Amino acid sequence: MSFNRNYIEFLFGNKLERIVWDDQQTLSPTTTVLQYLRGLSNFKGTKEGCAEGDCGACTVVFATIGVNGKLEYKAVNSCLVFLPQIHGKQLLTIEHLSDKNSVLHPVQEAMVEMDASQCGFCTPGFVMSLFALYKSSSQPTNETILDAFAGNLCRCTGYQSIHKAARLALNEMTPDSFTQKEKETIQLLQTINKGDACFKSANQVYYFSETLDSALTLKHKFPKIQILSGASDIALKVTKKKEILAEVLDLSGIEELKTIHKTSLGHDIGSGVSLQTMKEELHSELPSLVKILSVFGSKQIRQVATIGGNLGSASPIGDLIPLLMAYRAVVVVKGPIQKRSIPILAFIKGYHQIDLLEDELITLIHFPKPKQNRIIDCEKISKRIDLDISTVSAAMELELTPDKKISSIQLYFGGMAAVAKIATNTCVFLIGKKWEAATMEEAGSFLEKDFAPISDARAEAIGRMALAKNLLIKLWQNNPE
Ligand SMILES: Cc1cc2nc3c(=O)[nH]c(=O)nc-3n(C[C@H](O)[C@H](O)[C@H](O)COP(=O)(O)OP(=O)(O)OC[C@H]3O[C@@H](n4cnc5c(N)ncnc54)[C@H](O)[C@@H]3O)c2cc1C
Ligand code: FES
Ligand code: FES
Repeated sequence: MSFNRNYIEFLFGNKLERIVWDDQQTLSPTTTVLQYLRGLSNFKGTKEGCAEGDCGACTVVFATIGVNGKLEYKAVNSCLVFLPQIHGKQLLTIEHLSDKNSVLHPVQEAMVEMDASQCGFCTPGFVMSLFALYKSSSQPTNETILDAFAGNLCRCTGYQSIHKAARLALNEMTPDSFTQKEKETIQLLQTINKGDACFKSANQVYYFSETLDSALTLKHKFPKIQILSGASDIALKVTKKKEILAEVLDLSGIEELKTIHKTSLGHDIGSGVSLQTMKEELHSELPSLVKILSVFGSKQIRQVATIGGNLGSASPIGDLIPLLMAYRAVVVVKGPIQKRSIPILAFIKGYHQIDLLEDELITLIHFPKPKQNRIIDCEKISKRIDLDISTVSAAMELELTPDKKISSIQLYFGGMAAVAKIATNTCVFLIGKKWEAATMEEAGSFLEKDFAPISDARAEAIGRMALAKNLLIKLWQNNPE
């Protein structure tokens, strides 16, 4: 284990940039990319709106070398990414889009053509989201455009003209200056050394591991160290709560945690796999998972957020946990010596509490192959469709007899208690009943035995109960046959 590297290197546009954490360095290693950009004199195009991933004004694009050897472009919220996380990547901001002669990029031209900007505060963010789409999707549908913009808010222009600009730009996608320079960019990116790193400032130590072994060794040595993967939860401690993270262990560079293995027994998904990768790769195999991911945060959030991070947070309103319960997922954790496989129901121990020892890390999540004829479904209710965590969510695992009676049912709810949990009384009532709307309506009263929800900023207790009851009916409506 050698954490000798004390610098990061990245391509800033086409320029190789290096930031060294030596005695002269004044930047904290948990400086966000947005804070860094706003500190530069000629890069004020990237805006700070909320500093918590909710508005998209800070959207920038990362280009990395993908598995096919081509560049992959991803729009991310720069307010949630710490500087060490851009090592080895190309960072593109709004200032990089037009060429040296100030000729606008086709996505910018389209925004001008369609009058898609008024005050302009949100515009760089929209342009960068559109640029990433332009560079990554060969045939964008209306749905993919809406999905790409779900993390960008505009208060004055109105979304119609922005959407029209997207259609215009994406109708005719010609190779742009980035395509022309792709070979050169890849060559430059390949010159950047990888490897474990450590960035120290007066009151912080930030470790960046590139192997699971080195991360486990560190976790053993510093059991209280702050782990992060995508940092979409942890970054808020810095940007909103103004906490100084004294010791950080960043897992986002560990490739072995980013694999998806499909076997005859099911799927093994590495804890570091991003939610967007899961959404793109598991469409036909785990459709309910993909369904919930379609309303998870925004594309910018999903590009960085990981499945391991969602479990690590163990929020009672975390979107994935009830569904992982319905899938009977098994969480695999690893310590310096032993590996443990823990069924998700046992893994979630309480409010933000998980079965993870101080020297362990979550390494993968196993999704057993669902039995044939078993229906797995989920629903989420939030105040708005995109960019909002659940108020109440439900997931169901169901088996019916040939004459449409319920032979087995497990219903899990999020947002109804301090932890996501099964509705035991409701399930017991439902066994042997006919699978029809009236049954689910009747079952609603049993939820009152299962849960005593609280009132908070998202909903009153009474509202939560009403939502949960309606979700029972919705789950039937989704699967009437
Ligand atoms: C704007 C916005 C929208 C969001 N929308 C949603 C939403 O719709 N639904 C939802 O459920 N959540 C949502 N979230 C919360 C967050 O994005 C998710 O919980 C996400 O899955 C966290 O993943 P991460 O990799 O970013 O976690 P991080 O922030 O890196 O870590 C989260 C926690 O997990 C721990 N952890 C991470 N990896 C490991 C590991 N391998 N082993 C052990 N512990 C680990 C960390 O120590 C930390 O405690 C949203 C967040 C934001 C900012
Ligand atoms: S500043 Fe709002 S998403 Fe980053
Ligand atoms: S143009 Fe003003 S916020 Fe979008």
